[in-house]
Amino acid sequence: MKDFLAVADFSPEELQKLLDLAVELKNERQAGGNAPILQGKVLAMVFQKPSLRTRVSFDMAMRHLGGDAIYLSPAEIGLGKRESIADIARVLSGYVDVIMARVFAHEHVLGIAEWADVPVINGLSDYNHPCQALADALTIYERFNTLKDINVTYVGDGNNVAVSLMYISAKLGANFTIANPAGFDMSEDAIELGHEFAKESGSTITLLEDPHAAVQNAHVIYTDTWTSMGQEEEAKKREAVFPPYQVNAALVAEADPEVIVMHCLPAHRNHEITDEVADGPHSVLFPQAENRMHAQKAVLVHLLRDAK
Ligand code: CP
Ligand code: NVA
Repeated sequence: MKDFLAVADFSPEELQKLLDLAVELKNERQAGGNAPILQGKVLAMVFQKPSLRTRVSFDMAMRHLGGDAIYLSPAEIGLGKRESIADIARVLSGYVDVIMARVFAHEHVLGIAEWADVPVINGLSDYNHPCQALADALTIYERFNTLKDINVTYVGDGNNVAVSLMYISAKLGANFTIANPAGFDMSEDAIELGHEFAKESGSTITLLEDPHAAVQNAHVIYTDTWTSMGQEEEAKKREAVFPPYQVNAALVAEADPEVIVMHCLPAHRNHEITDEVADGPHSVLFPQAENRMHAQKAVLVHLLRDAK
């Protein structure tokens, strides 16, 4: 696999290898610093949307590994507007060693991957957020030493983050439950794939509307914004529907006593998650955010060194 576009494209063994590599690179970093194994390599970071974590964690990952990163803002490139996706991909392939792209339509990152000669990483699309999922799996793995038989419950919108979390949970043997309001489901295709992956690993996928039923026995409660980037015109409508799905102390109290609470961030505090929970004893929000960097180092090393 030349690219890292969706969790669905990788086998459980490949994902576990990436997790092991992430742990190794994280330990190495914490023991004094990473070896410059990507010296001379440059990452182009193409953004159609804003970012804090994805931008900074990729940039720092490259720096720690001896390489460099170039940030290309939404205004600069005009993906598909100023210049066609095929042309941008071919031009960048002549300059850099790897491309990361954050796009609206998943087809756009697929298009970049099709035309680029260098590896392409999906830094979030409307379909899924595989870098986030890998960091999430790393966070769960660090806490429980496995994903097998861990109950992962996502409460909120059936969005890109929910889909990649379902895929990685199902691939690695965690039981995935989602509670979302009617009409805010993950796509049928994604659900079907999720069931397939769960069948292969012997785990379960449970689709519910009731957040209280969903968090019973949960080892992980995960939430994300009710309104994703690109859906801003629906924000009012969503704010009216989603309040029963808020992750607050009362909901967390219904889960396993050792439950960890996760959020990909940015958080809309006191909407999908309360301050009390985000800053409380169950929260792993900031180690989770840090893990983006460690997980992405593994992706970069895999694509630039191991997959060659
Ligand atoms: N979680 C995440 O992808 O954050 P950013 O949008 O800040 O990159
Ligand atoms: N679901 C959110 C995630 C942001 C990191 C979005 O797509 O905006």
